Amino acid sequence: MVSTRRSLLAGSTSALAALAARGAGATTPGSSPPLPRPIPVAAPGQPGLNARAAGKGLFFGSAVDDLQLQGDPALMARIVADCGMVVGESSFKWEALQPQPGHFNYSRADALMRFAAKNRMRVRGHTLVWHEANPPWLEATLTPQSGEALLTGYIANVCGHFRGKIAHWDVANEVLHPEDKQPLGLRATPWLKALGPRYLDLAFHAAAEADPGALRVLNEFGVDYALPWQEKRRVAMLTLLQTLLMRGVPVQAVGLQAHLNAAETTLDQRGLARFVADIAGMGLKVIVTELDVRDDGLPADIPSRDEAVAEHARAWLDAVLPHPAVLGVLTWGLSDKRSWLNSKFPRPDGLPQRPLPLDAELRPKPLWSTIAGAFDAAQAR
Ligand code: XIL
Repeated sequence: MVSTRRSLLAGSTSALAALAARGAGATTPGSSPPLPRPIPVAAPGQPGLNARAAGKGLFFGSAVDDLQLQGDPALMARIVADCGMVVGESSFKWEALQPQPGHFNYSRADALMRFAAKNRMRVRGHTLVWHEANPPWLEATLTPQSGEALLTGYIANVCGHFRGKIAHWDVANEVLHPEDKQPLGLRATPWLKALGPRYLDLAFHAAAEADPGALRVLNEFGVDYALPWQEKRRVAMLTLLQTLLMRGVPVQAVGLQAHLNAAETTLDQRGLARFVADIAGMGLKVIVTELDVRDDGLPADIPSRDEAVAEHARAWLDAVLPHPAVLGVLTWGLSDKRSWLNSKFPRPDGLPQRPLPLDAELRPKPLWSTIAGAFDAAQAR
C-alpha cells in the first residue's frame, strides 16, 4: 500500500472540512450556492462509524478492493475514518491466494494486512471455501481421492500464514442452496460432490487447528425476507447449524451478508429477529458481513432513492442489531464510487446504483446516518 498514516489522516481532515463547509451551506465569493437539502455529514471531529459502534462494544467495517484503494488516497482516508475492520473484497479468495498448484501468492493480501495494521484496523478473512473465485486448476484436480488433502492443506497454509492476525475467518461461504436437493439443503458445489457434507467438518477443524484465535464463521446470503425461497434457507441454516454443532464442528458464528433490496416489500422484522435469536440460542455469534442495498427497482430521483435505501436498511438493522449476540456490521464497500452491484444488477436506466454509506464523492448519505443511528440506539454489550 502506498500511503503513510500521516498523509492519510491529513487527507481525511481536509476532505471532512470541505464536507462540513458544504453541509453548513457556507458561501464564499464565487462558490456554488448552498445545497437545497442538508446532506447529513460527519463534521470534523465527529466520530466515524466505528467509533459510534465501539461506544456500544460493536464494530463497523467495510470490504475494500485493494486494487482500487492503492490509487485512491481520499477513499483510503475515509476507510480509516469510518472503519475498525476491513475485509478484502477479492484478495483473500482462493484464486488470489493459490493461483497455481503448489504456488501461494500472499502479496495482495499482505498489503491489505499492512494497511490495516498501520491504521489499527482489524481484518476479516474472506473466504476459505466457496464455489466461486476458485482457480481453474482446483476444480480440475478436485476428486473424492484428492479433496481432503487439497482442502486441509490449503487451509493449513493460508490460516497458518495469517495466524494470530485475522479477527474472523469466513471458513465457508454460501453453502446453502435447497433447490439443489442435496442433504441438509447444501449447495451442489464441487466440494460437496467430492467429499459430501463432511467437507464442512474438515474445513472448520482445519481452520481451528491452524489459527485457533480467529473466529470461525459460516457466511450466508438470502435469509432476509419472508419470501418462500428465503424462508427455506433460514430453516436450512438452523438445521445445518444444529447438525454441525452436534457433530462437534467448531463453527462459532454466522455471517449474515445482508445484500438487501430496497424494492423488496417482504421484510418481516419479527421473523428476522427470531432467526437471529435462534442462531444465538445455539451459542453462536452473529456478524453482519456484507451490507449493501440495491436500488435497481427504484426510480432515478436521487434524494428519494437515498432515503428509501436508508429506510430499508434501518428496518433490517432494527430487527437484527438489538440482539446481544451481534458483534458488528460491515458494508460491502464504503462508497458508491464502486460497487459490485453495478455489474451484478445493473439499473435499467443505466445510472449507477447508490447502495453504500458514502456517495461517489465520499460524502455521507442517509444510509451513513442510519448506520450511525443504529449504533447509537444499540444497547451496550
Ligand atoms: C464479489 C465481489 O464484490 C466482486 O468484485 C467479485 O467479482 C465477485 O465477488 N457475496 C460474497 C462476496 O461473499 O465474496 C461477493 O463479492 C459478493 C457476494
